[in-house]
Amino acid sequence: MNILSVQNLKKHFGGVRAVDGCSLTIKTGTVMGLIGPNGAGKTTMFNLISGFAKGSGKIIFKGRPTDNLPPYKVAQRGMVRTFQIPHALTKMTVLDNLMLAPKAQAGERIWNVWLRPQSVKTQDIRIKEKSRDVLRFFEIEHLENEYAGALSGGQKKLLEMARAIMIDPSLMLLDEPFAGVNPTLSRKISEYIDELRESGMTFLIIEHDIPAITRISDRITVMNAGKIMTEGTPDEVKQNRDVLNAYLGDEG
Ligand SMILES: Nc1ncnc2c1ncn2[C@@H]1O[C@H](COP(=O)(O)OP(=O)(O)OP(=O)(O)O)[C@@H](O)[C@H]1O
Ligand SMILES: [Mg+2]
Repeated sequence: MNILSVQNLKKHFGGVRAVDGCSLTIKTGTVMGLIGPNGAGKTTMFNLISGFAKGSGKIIFKGRPTDNLPPYKVAQRGMVRTFQIPHALTKMTVLDNLMLAPKAQAGERIWNVWLRPQSVKTQDIRIKEKSRDVLRFFEIEHLENEYAGALSGGQKKLLEMARAIMIDPSLMLLDEPFAGVNPTLSRKISEYIDELRESGMTFLIIEHDIPAITRISDRITVMNAGKIMTEGTPDEVKQNRDVLNAYLGDEG
């Protein structure tokens, strides 16, 4: 079954055709890599799919259209994305960043605080336990009281993924999870993704680190200049000369 199917997505910025009629489908429980040279339109694709940008085309997630929904509604349906530049709240602790995530995504109902104080309290306890479980999964539980702004680049990437996991997504879109991450942590992030995939989660992952994305992807989609060049298994994509040329430019 396809968890996501997008058809003929388009987004233009003035004369720039950032995404120019792209279609792709992702099978439930698989990892799809999305690669392509700088400016190919990958992040713009993410923005369209996750509701952060409006363009044209059809987006079907778990059998229902989402192309007119704002990002928090898309997230409520189980699709969450991370950002190329991490978005954690730097003046909050790691734990608070996680605890805030599910409420913000669910659209916090402030009147609950007055009408049902007890239930809000038990919910807080539950969310705190879950946050700690998630931090433990990513092996950063020792950082729970650190300010997010004080974390290293790699730790920020983990926090970004941890925050996304808090809403129990069925589809995660990761924008360059390996960028600026040391090789040891990079291997760990691959393992976390593998483990989450084993548990049934689906991934769409933008990445420039070709060895890393090849290692974890079932299939890879290649974008260039707003269009999808090709899609296939990592081996098929590796052997495609056009892909190499797109990366190296015309002289390639
Ligand atoms: N908000 C914007 N306003 C104007 N142009 C934009 C905007 N966002 C993206 N673009 C342009 O759209 C094209 C695609 O950009 P996008 O960020 O999607 O590429 P990308 O594949 O994610 O690149 P990278 O690998 O460098 O992150 C680029 O030419 C970019 O300059
Ligand atoms: Mg990008």
